[in-house]
Amino acid sequence: MSITYDQRRTFAIISHPDAGKTTLTEKLLLQGGAIHMAGAVKARGEARRARSDWMKIEQERGISVTSSVMTFTHNGLLFNLLDTPGHEDFSEDTYRTLTAVDSAIMVIDAARGIESQTRKLFEVCRLRDIPIITYINKVDRKGREAFDLLDEIQEELQLDIAPRVWPLGMGGQFHGCYDLARNEFHTSTQGRGGPFDTVVHCSGLDDPQLEERVDDGVLAQAQEEAELAEAAYPPFDPQAFREGHQTPVIFGSALRDYSITSLLDLIAEHAPPPRPSPATPRDVTPDEDKVSGFVFKIQANMDKNHRDRIAFLRICSGRFKRGMKLRQVRTGKDITVHSPIIFMAQDRGIADEAGPGDVIGIPNHGTIRVGDTFTEGEKLRFTGLPAFAPEILRRVRLTDSTRVKQMRQALQDLSEEGLIQVLKPDIGSQWVVGVIGQLQLDVVSDRAKSEYKVALEFEPTPYQMARWLSSDDERALNTFVSKHKSAIMTDRDGDPVFMASSPWELNYKIESNAAIRFSKTKEME
Ligand code: G4P
Repeated sequence: MSITYDQRRTFAIISHPDAGKTTLTEKLLLQGGAIHMAGAVKARGEARRARSDWMKIEQERGISVTSSVMTFTHNGLLFNLLDTPGHEDFSEDTYRTLTAVDSAIMVIDAARGIESQTRKLFEVCRLRDIPIITYINKVDRKGREAFDLLDEIQEELQLDIAPRVWPLGMGGQFHGCYDLARNEFHTSTQGRGGPFDTVVHCSGLDDPQLEERVDDGVLAQAQEEAELAEAAYPPFDPQAFREGHQTPVIFGSALRDYSITSLLDLIAEHAPPPRPSPATPRDVTPDEDKVSGFVFKIQANMDKNHRDRIAFLRICSGRFKRGMKLRQVRTGKDITVHSPIIFMAQDRGIADEAGPGDVIGIPNHGTIRVGDTFTEGEKLRFTGLPAFAPEILRRVRLTDSTRVKQMRQALQDLSEEGLIQVLKPDIGSQWVVGVIGQLQLDVVSDRAKSEYKVALEFEPTPYQMARWLSSDDERALNTFVSKHKSAIMTDRDGDPVFMASSPWELNYKIESNAAIRFSKTKEME
């Protein structure tokens, strides 16, 4: 069985910790019928070889790659679910993974609404107009009013809403979910609040079958709400969804299996397959014969005795085969990819190949960087893979002053790898390290110690935020930079960065310097 690129759906789940991402992921994999987890897959032939490769890598090198890409099939389509680390391992990788997907599911806790991490991840999706399906989770518990949640999404995220699945009661009153698109009532035979196990095909929310199954008050309220929702929101428009303007909204309970199939069917029917990828000097379309792709994430070894890394390459065109030679365009070097990690579903026929939308892991010793383009020889560079403004800024203190050179090398290397941003002050000599998540700082000091034999300490800085500066008016930019010398640093490419001590200060500078752009992202070079 060969699955063409337009039968692939590559997506991620964005959420705030505890909203239910892990639970939903498990339910999607179970529903997809092919959990891709160590020990869970009965592999055969080639598949076994590929699988044991990565299991060996995991065991020997202590790298956990199992959950980075989860693959399953459903209705003849191949789904690649890319993991977006979200708890203490929230990092720039989390953001960059979103540059490798074609759509995203935004999971929101019905009691909490939109939370900080959801908002940040959403902004990254918006940069690329990634289509978003909203899944409002935990309706089996007491949550906020449905309209309250929808208004918040519409207003805070500036997204049009299209309700697709509506809850019939919430919390103690939860009777099930109604799929408005399919006119199906999803409920439980095990009483109110039980796990989903029954589909009732209806003619609408006024179907008499519902009267038998749902309390009068709850049904009347749902009918009224659905009517109101129909009047308040435009109908689902697949085009507006694909362009990132409208989000279909599904109420559900991942824990109790509600709205998992509605969600999968929606991705299958309407989420886009791999699209053309922006590149210079030309864009790349997924139907091209030659293999091309870009690296969006590097996973470093957790085992300090090895310097191995896994580079995650999103394939943009062609059919990658094990043992293929690929050119790393930045260096011009050809690399034979002998033992790639190819993530695959249980029942996928071709285990030794990967196509557009798929991700492969390439083991290497630190020669591959985030942002690298690989091709069969053509000089291309995929664009749109940004660096993100760091959110945690720390001064670096060296405990042994005789090892300044090694420290600088370590920071330079780790910044080129994409793990951290290194900022150098215009005045003074203390470098600043910028990261997105706290754990990255621990990883930096661990790796500096084991790989470069330098002990680093991080100190607080007076800065809260960093923004890249640019302008069409060079003079205005130079004047701003020289006027704010003590708050300007340069990044590893020599570009100026403004360091703000508070959101208030940043806003003030933005408002009083209309000719200057203060950017949260920068195209990687
Ligand atoms: P995360 O990956 O987004 O951090 O969330 P995760 O799935 O781990 O879920 C966080 C908590 O919310 C878990 O409870 C989980 O069981 C619960 N949860 C997820 N989906 C639902 C739902 O649809 N309804 C209800 N009522 N709860 C849900 P926990 O107590 O923290 O962990 P556990 O001990 O249950 O595993």
